[in-house]
Amino acid sequence: MKPLILALALVLAVPASPASAHPGPGHHPRPAKDLRQLSQQLHIKIGSAVDIASLRDEPMYRKTLNREFNHVTAENAMKWESVEPERGVYTWDDADALVENARRNHQQIRGHTLLWHNQLPAWLTSGVEDGSIDATELREILRDHITTQVRRYKGKIRAWDVVNEVVEEDGSMRQSIWLTHLGPGYIADAFRWAHKADPHAKLFINDYNLEWNAPKIETTLNIVKDLKAERVPIHGIGFQGHLGIQYDYPGDWANVMQRFADLGLEVAVTELDVRMVLPVTPEKLATQADYYRRALTDCLSVRACRELTVWGFTDLHSWVPGWFDGEGAATLMDENYAPKPAYKALLSVKGRK
Ligand code: G3I
Repeated sequence: MKPLILALALVLAVPASPASAHPGPGHHPRPAKDLRQLSQQLHIKIGSAVDIASLRDEPMYRKTLNREFNHVTAENAMKWESVEPERGVYTWDDADALVENARRNHQQIRGHTLLWHNQLPAWLTSGVEDGSIDATELREILRDHITTQVRRYKGKIRAWDVVNEVVEEDGSMRQSIWLTHLGPGYIADAFRWAHKADPHAKLFINDYNLEWNAPKIETTLNIVKDLKAERVPIHGIGFQGHLGIQYDYPGDWANVMQRFADLGLEVAVTELDVRMVLPVTPEKLATQADYYRRALTDCLSVRACRELTVWGFTDLHSWVPGWFDGEGAATLMDENYAPKPAYKALLSVKGRK
């Protein structure tokens, strides 16, 4: 074939450009090639937790993170013990590194977390324990912490996990130092202080097992209703989504998401991972893939669900093996960054109905 004829034949063989075809909602001309493209097609932010040491030291980690994700959460770097290990001594380097990497790679940020019962600095917990920090001072310290951190990243954080894990498994309020020393009003205070420091950031309450645990769900719904009734600035609910294939998939999750959406909240899946009892088998990977696919599909079925973040993206760096004896392989890629069936299952998900 002559070159000119060959060129003409090629042009005729290429289908009309998708841009000119104005595809309807849910119709995608071709499967996404990676999660960033999927995110654009589905109109949902797709994020990952970030381990700062790996971001700094491992080119493959950095490259994969920045290629795949348009939303990021610091796995540990923005927690209180990380940013103020000694009283009044702030160590922002790691958190700043995440924010700067996000800026350069067009990633939005979820700030995690302003108030939690874990990973508090030792000076704070021991001061409360030995009585050298009383309730009045503790409230001041909390207000300063929230104000200082939110102000530092004003305009740079899309959404903050303002309070994390404040409800127990039985639906009672968590007996943290915050509840026992400050009383239940600490939650409203935390949201108000955060809002004052950055009025444009979306403010979330975040928890685990909220996908299925009825007492926890009901209490959290009531917290949100009460806050709304008091005109407290709360904008979103975060479902952590730490799942395991040895448990049934939480089949009612989309309905639970919708109940929070009906209160006017944005919904996010904030820490998705799906662990398994080791060793890994092809069957287990297939089940895991199905759980990831269902989580994304559930999120897409609720109009208010706008972000799905995974808690790490490679089995090389995941909190799971360190916490659950004999379990692991919870993320989308294996230890060599090879995509697992779960990754491909996400790419196959079609748009909102
Ligand atoms: O910083 C020290 C380091 O100096 C030391 O050398 C090393 C030795 O083990 O430990 C380091 O601290 C670890 C820290 O992560 C930072 O890597 C802690 O031991 C370890 O317990 C801590 O685990 C984190 C965990 O939260 C703590 O509760 C996990 O990485 C992190 O993935 C996990 O994230 C939580 C979310 O914030 C909230 N939802 C649940 C989720 C999973 O537990």
